[in-house]
Amino acid sequence: MNIEHVLHLLADGEFHSGEELGQALGVSRTAVWKQLQKLEDFGICLQSVKGQGYRLEKGLELLSEEGIRGYLTPKATRLLSKLDLAGSIDSTNTRALNEARAGAGSGLVCLAEHQTAGRGRRGRQWVSPYGRNIYLSLVWEFTTGAAAMEGLSLAVGVAIVRALRASGIEGVQLKWPNDVLWQERKVAGVLLEMTGDPAGHCQVVIGVGINVAMLESEAEGIDQQWVSLHSISSEVSRNKLTADLLNELLPLLVGYQQEGFAPLREEWEALDCFGEREVEIRVGDQITVGRVLGVNAAGALRLKTAEGEQLIYGGEASLRKSAQPA
Ligand code: BTN
Repeated sequence: MNIEHVLHLLADGEFHSGEELGQALGVSRTAVWKQLQKLEDFGICLQSVKGQGYRLEKGLELLSEEGIRGYLTPKATRLLSKLDLAGSIDSTNTRALNEARAGAGSGLVCLAEHQTAGRGRRGRQWVSPYGRNIYLSLVWEFTTGAAAMEGLSLAVGVAIVRALRASGIEGVQLKWPNDVLWQERKVAGVLLEMTGDPAGHCQVVIGVGINVAMLESEAEGIDQQWVSLHSISSEVSRNKLTADLLNELLPLLVGYQQEGFAPLREEWEALDCFGEREVEIRVGDQITVGRVLGVNAAGALRLKTAEGEQLIYGGEASLRKSAQPA
């Protein structure tokens, strides 16, 4: 018996006494209690009420391979080479990178219920409580090396918005280069990492984190405005949304490999939260100020600055404090 067995019993969100849990698992109440002490390490909060027992607020919808595959389109099923579903691991991106180094090719997907060392961009931590959100990493092979990465995170953002729509979530916007926002709060993020030849045959790991059911009490350490999908619609299912994401992402990557970002540019611009607004782009200590004109066919940000139009290839974008919508 381990903590994940206990979590499966608590997933229904109902109260369970220590005795009942012990009986179901064939162990003593003390053994159950010892396991429950470990829950903090899984990033979720256990409620304990005298006379009623233990419960997980709102319950958990755990992931299952059948649950996800049941929603996959035939096309996505063909493009998915392997679905690797883990319980608690360090990071799905680390796992997918290791698989890629060991020879895994396009279409390998790693998912986890919990990440102990989830990574965000720029060395940030990605808060990853057990069973609440989606932590997904997909391996895709390219023959163009690092050049494949240009525009890719923007393309992935488009796939995420399409998937969210398929799961009933409207009003999502994209923030260059790769944040997914709902009413200016972050709901998902993309982290691209690469292994192989930076000038030729390489494997890109596309890491996607989507906040689905994370509670305020579990979000300690997040230093920006964020939102979980369940505060927009309680209907969203983690299994279905995972499939919706793969249904959008896998075919989109086939197209991206052939034609790059250009065919997605118009759709991306229609989703841009900064369109026509005054922004600051920070690269290290350097700040560039200008009005957003859109993105080019490679995914670089087009900025109208005092010196004329500039193309920005990387950095952190934020709205200028004094800026008004155009
Ligand atoms: C960002 O900073 O916006 C990017 C966040 C990416 C998080 C995802 S969760 C799945 C995958 N595994 C990780 O360790 N990071 C990515």
